[in-house]
Amino acid sequence: MAYLQEAGVKALRRLRGAGAALQWDASVKSLLAAVGAASLGYWVARGGWALLRGSVSYFLAGPLRLGINLAKLTRDDHGATGSGSGTGWAVVSGGNEGLGLAFAKELARRGVNVIVVGRNAEKLDMVAREIEAAFHVKADMLVMDFSRAGVEDYQRMRQRLARIRVDILVNALGMVDGVSGAFGSASNMEQTCLDMLHVNLMSMFMLTNAVLPGMKERRAGVIVNLSSLAAVYPLPHYALYGAIKACVDFFSLALHSECRHHGITVQSVLAGPVLTKLTRNFAKSFFIVPAAPFARDTLSQVGLRSRTFGHWIHALLVRTFDVSSYLRSQRLFRHFLQVSLAQPIPLRLTLRFLRPRARPTTSGAGSAAGSL
Ligand SMILES: NC(=O)c1ccc[n+]([C@@H]2O[C@H](COP(=O)([O-])OP(=O)(O)OC[C@H]3O[C@@H](n4cnc5c(N)ncnc54)[C@H](OP(=O)(O)O)[C@@H]3O)[C@@H](O)[C@H]2O)c1
Repeated sequence: MAYLQEAGVKALRRLRGAGAALQWDASVKSLLAAVGAASLGYWVARGGWALLRGSVSYFLAGPLRLGINLAKLTRDDHGATGSGSGTGWAVVSGGNEGLGLAFAKELARRGVNVIVVGRNAEKLDMVAREIEAAFHVKADMLVMDFSRAGVEDYQRMRQRLARIRVDILVNALGMVDGVSGAFGSASNMEQTCLDMLHVNLMSMFMLTNAVLPGMKERRAGVIVNLSSLAAVYPLPHYALYGAIKACVDFFSLALHSECRHHGITVQSVLAGPVLTKLTRNFAKSFFIVPAAPFARDTLSQVGLRSRTFGHWIHALLVRTFDVSSYLRSQRLFRHFLQVSLAQPIPLRLTLRFLRPRARPTTSGAGSAAGSL
């Protein structure tokens, strides 16, 4: 009898253990299901938000005029006096060719006076005359060979630009010749690297430096910088070009954060392939966008997106590239961990918290402008 009692108690204990295990199993399952549902919800919300934002910026910003009215920006006097009064100008570097020319024409089409900057006086003059005749705005030129410019040339350029009111700057000047191919394979690498830095970066730094004090004084201005998808996807055989374009992107993001409280908008354009002489050797593709619509769509987003792919086709190219490369390398899970764990704070938030408090501009910006 005692034996039977003991066996009964043991059986009861085993049953209780199994029940607890079953309960534990069920709660782990429901916890995992909740985590799964939350992650799915997060990714669906994220995808939906990106789709909505993309549609508004790439398709509706132009027709609905959601961005900054650039013509109005150059016509409002912003309470400025002296060289700051009167109608403003847009300065477009590389304005005689390719993307620069497309940006100059698009600005003129919107009623903005333009100054085209480049090294070939004859070509620049022709473009300025053509723009004046076609769009009935004022057009002028500034001749500068950035691969040969030194400190004094930059100072002269700054002094000349300080005499007029520049409300818009488009940095669309650049070169890539001689550096495609394995790094170090060009015959004169020392000169090539210097040219790349001067033409792609110094032109942007020095033109920005020349127009920024005036913009700060008037508390208004727009700067558009041509970076590239090569800044986001490191391209073999374009290592130097990609590194330079990443610098353009970083400079633009930091400058936007620094200057937006002075009323200045800086836009970084992560352009994909655009039909210009820079891409003349590329194979024909749906993703190569003509320069005119690219410039039109990019300018429509000024004030809406401080970092843009410019044209919807390039935004699509990025997504296609992302998905196909994940599928090929099966890195989805790693990417998920990187995005959700390693980068918990979005870049925009980081910039917001790191930004120093805006100082009053009356004495600081005024004296900086006065010293030009
Ligand atoms: N096209 C694309 O697919 C693409 C994609 C992403 C980013 N981007 C960027 O967009 C910008 C414009 O490219 P793009 O395609 O319009 O190039 P592009 O057609 O070759 O035009 C380049 C412009 O820069 C000028 N330039 C070159 N070297 C110069 C120098 N030493 N001094 C003064 N001006 C000089 C050229 O003047 P000259 O006529 O006298 O040579 C021309 O006006 C570049 O920064 C490029 O990196 C282009």
